[in-house]
Amino acid sequence: MIIVIDGPAGSGKSSTAKEIANRLNIQFLDSGALYRAVTFHWLNSGKSDIRSFIELLPDVKIASKYKNNTFFVSLDGSDITNQLRQHYVAEHVSEIATQPDVRMFVNNYMRNLVVNGTYIADGRDLGTAVFPDAEIKFFMTASIEERARRRFNEIKETDPGVTLKDVEENIRQRDNKDQNRASDPLKKADDAIEIDTTGKTFEEQISEMISIIENKTKLNH
Ligand code: DC
Repeated sequence: MIIVIDGPAGSGKSSTAKEIANRLNIQFLDSGALYRAVTFHWLNSGKSDIRSFIELLPDVKIASKYKNNTFFVSLDGSDITNQLRQHYVAEHVSEIATQPDVRMFVNNYMRNLVVNGTYIADGRDLGTAVFPDAEIKFFMTASIEERARRRFNEIKETDPGVTLKDVEENIRQRDNKDQNRASDPLKKADDAIEIDTTGKTFEEQISEMISIIENKTKLNH
């Protein structure tokens, strides 16, 4: 079974999905981390043009697991989790995520993964393109200022050179690219439930979403 949460960068999808996964004892799948992993791989591949990098994709061995509140990703056997949130990866990820071959690679990985088990996954196009038959779909939103503040607090320790203004600008650009790209743009699915988290406490939004899940499924915490 799969529950999906889509929404723009910094709307709180990952922290919400993790908390719900912990409380309901299900798996968490972070699709953005997979796009970041492919981006990280490209930036370290020595290939300056994306086309020649894409030819290497069929040989890439990606793996992930959710443990101790962290979504770990490894590439060809090396753990790269700590690199994925760095600003230089964020600066290039939208470019990589517009490539249809990359999207196919990530989507295939995710569809194979969720065959066994119950997952809550977060992303941009999960309810529309990747899992159109998901049992429950949420679409989370929050104001751009609030999203930038949250993302900045999340990365300031691992990336001390970055400023709040950098993060806000990066989120603005990513919103623009995510919503206007040709392949699978960020869009609320018609049957998704919208959750606007601006001004809501974390506990309020979690309780609201868990009661929706409990009403629609047999999952209980
Ligand atoms: O959620 P995030 O910020 O970690 O996502 C990183 C990037 O990956 C984001 O700029 C858009 C892209 N992405 C995507 O295109 N489709 C998804 N399902 C998830 C993320």
